[in-house]
Amino acid sequence: MTSLANKQILLGVTGGIAAYKSADLVRRLQDAGASVQVVMTPAAQEFITPLTMQALSGNPVHTQLLDPEAEAGMGHIQLARWADLVLIAPATADFIARLSQGMGNDLLTSICLATAAPIAIAPAMNQGMWHNQATQTNLETLSKRKVSVFGPADGIQACGDIGAGRMLEPLQLVDAAASLFASGSLAGKKVVITAGPTREALDPVRYLSNYSSGKMGYALAQAAAEAGAETILISGPTQLPAPARVKRIEVISAEEMHRASLHAAQGCDLFIAAAAVADYRPAQIAAQKMKKDNSDTLTLALVKNPDIVASIASLNPKPFTVGFAAESENLLEYARVKLARKNLDMVVANNISDSTIGFNSDDNAVTLVEQNGATDISQRSKQQLARELIALFAQKITVQ
Ligand code: C5P
Repeated sequence: MTSLANKQILLGVTGGIAAYKSADLVRRLQDAGASVQVVMTPAAQEFITPLTMQALSGNPVHTQLLDPEAEAGMGHIQLARWADLVLIAPATADFIARLSQGMGNDLLTSICLATAAPIAIAPAMNQGMWHNQATQTNLETLSKRKVSVFGPADGIQACGDIGAGRMLEPLQLVDAAASLFASGSLAGKKVVITAGPTREALDPVRYLSNYSSGKMGYALAQAAAEAGAETILISGPTQLPAPARVKRIEVISAEEMHRASLHAAQGCDLFIAAAAVADYRPAQIAAQKMKKDNSDTLTLALVKNPDIVASIASLNPKPFTVGFAAESENLLEYARVKLARKNLDMVVANNISDSTIGFNSDDNAVTLVEQNGATDISQRSKQQLARELIALFAQKITVQ
């Protein structure tokens, strides 16, 4: 079955009779595993009510650009960042014209301007309007901007005409949306990714750990699998389900992660260390639960854990090796030191002093540090960022 597992789809509905099919589309997208938020233009609300779309999507429907309540919650910039895909179905001739002009005169066009996510439109209009040179020129402009155009189909139209302009059926749109995420850029490649925290046992009931959610590593694993790679995810304890077509190896401690990584990295093309590995572990694990004594303090002896990503980067042959640097100060400087010290090909650096990005949040903004320079990637969802990073790594591996 077509998979949109874990995808966040912003469904834009504009004012055409095919809007009645958008209600079913919400359901079909959800059946394929996506979460859906709906944005409706004023004209769309003439054909179908926001209440219907709210009930089906399970989320409030967004209708206005300048809505103080919405701006305090899911405003247009947050919606633009939230989306892994902006799908406009139906897309009217008027909407296509406004999109091609880069207008931002309503909520939906503003989101399209602000988003880093791919945009797809499912045109629906009278065949005369579809064939009109103005519409075709607008579509050419959108194609140049990499906007995907799904359909339209040929057939009998609501107005009685016969010809091109019918919106594709919901299941066809789901398939088309899913195909956008399957790039094939890593076909035939093996990718190993570490993710999540590690737990370092103190005694049978206690451990040292950190707040890593594993979201970034899991998003990378999903993107690598979608790009066609044989993907192995070596994961510390997290709450996340294993992405489809990913082989997950579950570990607890840094030492276990180290062993599993060395084993999995045999013959791999790309190794991404997204795990928040504990730097130290207790020198001894007490066999029985440690008891309180009369002292007000307790001193623990810790020993250093192996550096997993550095061990992989010292292998011969060496995979393209990427590390992460979560820093609260001197981001670039520390990332450059890490790149050199661990012999990495790239460091993905993020600033953890900002709570809206990085550790445990859904978004990330990063700087990619390589030997010959640094590139900033602005704030976006971890899924979106993961796909962009995987596309970039795929290019690097092919060039190598
Ligand atoms: O040295 P630091 O922990 O800041 O480096 C972070 C990067 O190194 C991350 O990519 C992390 O996954 C990796 N790392 C590792 N093994 C360790 C410590 C960090 O692979 N023991």
